[in-house]
Amino acid sequence: MSPRIIAVVNQKGGVGKSTVTMGMAAVCAETSRTLVVDIDPQGSVTFWSDQAGDNLPFDTTSDLDPKNLARLRELPYDVVFVDTPGSLENEHILNPVLDEADFLILPTEPAPLAVPPLLNTVRRLIEPRGVDYRVLINKFDPRTPSDAEEAAELIDSAGLKRFQTPIRQYKIHSRAPIDGLVVTQYRSSRSDLKAAEDFRRVAMEMMSYWANASTNKGGR
Ligand SMILES: Nc1ncnc2c1ncn2[C@@H]1O[C@H](COP(=O)(O)OP(=O)(O)OP(=O)(O)O)[C@@H](O)[C@H]1O
Ligand SMILES: [Mg+2]
Repeated sequence: MSPRIIAVVNQKGGVGKSTVTMGMAAVCAETSRTLVVDIDPQGSVTFWSDQAGDNLPFDTTSDLDPKNLARLRELPYDVVFVDTPGSLENEHILNPVLDEADFLILPTEPAPLAVPPLLNTVRRLIEPRGVDYRVLINKFDPRTPSDAEEAAELIDSAGLKRFQTPIRQYKIHSRAPIDGLVVTQYRSSRSDLKAAEDFRRVAMEMMSYWANASTNKGGR
């Protein structure tokens, strides 16, 4: 069976694309053969996996060749996550991935100014391809829930689709690349478990969208 291809996209830099890619891959790797492909010339995932050595619960690779990226579906995995750059400059690398993708995750910070780049990404790259996506609110600070509520309202009123579950802000997310660990490998405090729980919830939500999409197709 060919893998499900999920690209993590947002033209805005620093919103958590690499963090979300690695967190989602970590929870998916608990049940599925999982690969992360780094198509960001900045190489954050590659740095992260070099720090980890043989310690990651999934495989990673870096590939900037559009010809290879057009053949992701041939790889022997159940799930392939693609971490993309924080700009739309290298569209010849991004395009084959978006053409192949089954689902897109668009991480965003919970801030009003985050909405215009999201809208641009969706209108320009996603809607013309008709691929399903959800915006994912990241770096949610539970001490100021109104920020996330406001952001959610703005995202909804812009007509964008969004995950109901946000990813909370935790120190381990910023430490993980240098520690060479992924979120499921931290287990020493309650907040470590909560951080992993966020990603498990998002993964469940994502699977429920896939289940509904295939039910709808079946009913046609
Ligand atoms: N939920 C979170 N909690 C705490 N820190 C976070 C969280 N998500 C991301 N960060 C931190 O925010 C910074 C940006 O995250 P990340 O590198 O994943 O973003 P990006 O979208 O991949 O950036 P770029 O566009 O440069 O590739 C990093 O320092 C990361 O550790
Ligand atoms: Mg990145």
